[in-house]
Amino acid sequence: MSEIKYIDEDATFTIERPENYTGLYFPLAGEKGLKSSITPNLGGDSKIDQTSFLLEPVSIENLHNNRSTRNFWVISRSLASGKKDIWSATGASAEAENNRFTENQDDSSVTAGFMWHELLRKSKKYGLSAEIRSFIPVHENVEVMQVNIKNDSGEAKEITGIAAIPVYGRSADNIRDHRNVTGMLHRIRATENGVIVKPTMSFDERGHKRNNISYFVYGCTGSCDKPIEFFPTVENFIGEGMTFTHPAAVYFNENGVDAGVEEDGREAFGGIKYKPVILNSGYSATFIVLLGIASEASEIDETFRKLDSEAKIDKEFYDLKKYWNEKVNVNLHSGNKDFDLFMHWVCFEPYLRKIFGCSFLPHHDYGRGGRGWRDLWQDCLSLAIMNPGEIHDQIRANFAGVRADGTNATIIGEKPGEFKADRNGIARVWMDHGFWPFVTVMLYINETGDYNCLLENAPYFKDSQAGRGLFTDEKWTVGDGTGLKTKDGEIYEGSLLEHILLENLTAFYDVGEHGNLLLHGADWNDALDMAAEKGESVAFTYAYAWNIAELAKLCKKLVEYGIKEVPVFEELRILTAEDKNNYASVSAKRATLKKYCETVKSSVFGKMAVTGLSDLSKILTSMAESMTDHLRKNEWITDCEGYSWFNGYYDNNGRRVEGDNDLGVRMMLTGEVFAIMSGIADAERAKKITESADWYLFDKEAGGYRLNTDFHEVKMDMGRQFGFAYGEKENGSVFSHMDVMYANALYKQGFVKEGYKVIDTLTSHAIDFRRSRIYPGIPEYFRNDGRGVYHYLTGAASWLMLTMVTEVYGVKGIYGDLCLEPKLLSSQFDSEDKAYIDLIFAGKRLHIIYVNHGKKDYGDYSISAVGCDGINMEALTGKSIIIPRQKILSLSGDKRHDITAILD
Ligand code: G1P
Repeated sequence: MSEIKYIDEDATFTIERPENYTGLYFPLAGEKGLKSSITPNLGGDSKIDQTSFLLEPVSIENLHNNRSTRNFWVISRSLASGKKDIWSATGASAEAENNRFTENQDDSSVTAGFMWHELLRKSKKYGLSAEIRSFIPVHENVEVMQVNIKNDSGEAKEITGIAAIPVYGRSADNIRDHRNVTGMLHRIRATENGVIVKPTMSFDERGHKRNNISYFVYGCTGSCDKPIEFFPTVENFIGEGMTFTHPAAVYFNENGVDAGVEEDGREAFGGIKYKPVILNSGYSATFIVLLGIASEASEIDETFRKLDSEAKIDKEFYDLKKYWNEKVNVNLHSGNKDFDLFMHWVCFEPYLRKIFGCSFLPHHDYGRGGRGWRDLWQDCLSLAIMNPGEIHDQIRANFAGVRADGTNATIIGEKPGEFKADRNGIARVWMDHGFWPFVTVMLYINETGDYNCLLENAPYFKDSQAGRGLFTDEKWTVGDGTGLKTKDGEIYEGSLLEHILLENLTAFYDVGEHGNLLLHGADWNDALDMAAEKGESVAFTYAYAWNIAELAKLCKKLVEYGIKEVPVFEELRILTAEDKNNYASVSAKRATLKKYCETVKSSVFGKMAVTGLSDLSKILTSMAESMTDHLRKNEWITDCEGYSWFNGYYDNNGRRVEGDNDLGVRMMLTGEVFAIMSGIADAERAKKITESADWYLFDKEAGGYRLNTDFHEVKMDMGRQFGFAYGEKENGSVFSHMDVMYANALYKQGFVKEGYKVIDTLTSHAIDFRRSRIYPGIPEYFRNDGRGVYHYLTGAASWLMLTMVTEVYGVKGIYGDLCLEPKLLSSQFDSEDKAYIDLIFAGKRLHIIYVNHGKKDYGDYSISAVGCDGINMEALTGKSIIIPRQKILSLSGDKRHDITAILD
């Protein structure tokens, strides 16, 4: 059984014989748009977006099924005997398949770091070895394959290399629909450096468009020799009756074509035969393969010139490593080195999701690219820690997606702040969406102290959706544009605080018959999508109650900062003027919401009303209190075995979902997370919840806490979740995102041992390749058998990083000041009783060290002294301490500053 081994401090890892495992893939991308997935045999795909795939799109099943890979064939001929051998340097040959798991299998390993992948393969039989490095230069749309072939045979050989890469060159939509027809659009040309494919049209029966994009495979030797022959079509290369893993061009030495030849209307192929080289034993030669996409044909030569020698490629590779390694500027140190290095990958994952969205890796075969609303906001959480400067503008831009009814645009464009109208007219409301922006903004304000951002203005989004999914604005047309206007036709802009208020206040009134918030289209759990009429998400009622209580505190704080009032658009007052005696009345709340939504259905008056923040804070407090009272009184349940926890849902028949049931007790994790995070579960209740979760949801072998118990029912009045097999995705898998948020909630409320158990179980499982079968990082979930799936693109990464930094190491901002409140257990310190974290706070590089010579556990220690760069800081003691921002800002320059806290 192979294992992952880290080989340096940048968390570069290596694994032996990775091709012996199913479904391994690794992400490669640059900043210009090209993104790829790559497997141990160099399968996978490469694309810019849904309509521009360079390599054929793959889903997870294709990884073992496809023969179309980035192959590199080596024909070696002994100079002494003339004997000819054929070898696939990527292990993608019929022979290699046949040898898998036998003593004849090549030795192989993959070594990888952020955005680069290196395959080593050694054939004992042929006395050859290969080192193939793959990466996408940061600012190019080209994937580089730097192939080094070494002669280990003990005799001199003539080596001929052939790069063999099928070029798909079209939209993912044509993977079956018009696959053959779209091949007819291909115009394929062999040039002196490779093969270019430029389809005549981008095929779309709603309106075909002239195509400008070119796809190419170019190559030269490391010493810049041009190729000698080309195979521009699949048929040229594989020959009659043969395949990619046993192609005629290689095995029967069929001739290719010369530069200048054009072949039209066929499946295209990037087949390049390199000039043969003579290698004495012990010597090696390099071959460069470039596969890319260019928006203009002229760009191809330009790109080629930047990368047509080994020296140029080595320079790009050096720059790439530096660029991506610097992105991760948080470094944890504990007593567990593997965990610390694993966390590098976790910290890197939010960057991957920014680039790949929630599509475009082999498991993520849904969607057409981009991220969803909640993902957009949650990915900002890690940025708030790693790069708060960058998120200010992003936050402001994101708010432009909020509608006047408190919901938001669901089609998110490529650029920040770009939101599109839903032309399909699907009135779908994800009821949790309004919750996340405030969480992110609050973290941003705490980390930076920039509370003034709340007063900055942003526009609102407008389309036909107007009544929280219940009614539309029939008058709105696409021609009206997507900006909310005033009655006078001006684009309306309001403060970010106003946007946040709107999202949370509208949610407050949007209740179902049990007084909890309506589930609508779904909540965080996208798969609870069949209870739009009567379903209620109690889970997110806890969450919004918390938000509203925190908003009340924020308003109070702003008053302390001298901001006593804010202007809001006049209609918003409908939501703040409600008599608080009506807060418990479902009908009164619904009537208020209806009145409000109808008033702002098409536009707003544009008249501003000045709102006193002190009064607003009181109103918000009583709203939060009424929700809390209701939830504590009505949703706390005890089952037949005496376990207690908070109910999280009502189904579409208005029935409570959790608790006793004829088909077995039902419990879901989501409600518990937000009940604890919000504090609605007080310490006593939270303790009981942990006992119930341990009993009903914990499964160590599967990797942690399951999202729900087995309902033993395809529950058509709740959602597609229950159509999934139990243990898959949203139906009872160990779903990392929710597990990590559970840990976060537990740490927040001081349940440190319990929180640690969640994180330790989950991450130990992920780290243990024998069980998780994934490269380092946190996947979306673990299946019943413990395998990690939907790797890399998950909100769990941001939350895990956030939890480790702000809760476990307890390094967090509070309105811009630096707070240290460690919640480390004694087992987390190293052999010198130290644990430290490197990060940037207030623009300064900090190295924060906790020293625990007494080997005490959380709860038994508090901070007894703090020093900065060796100088004692006065009067900073206690369970948590606050270092004023000014003090941090006054630290000199760029150098690293050591803050040492003694725990005693
Ligand atoms: C994914 C989606 C997220 C959704 C969740 C549950 O989670 O990205 O929007 O809330 O499934 O349906 P993730 O992979 O980010 O953990």
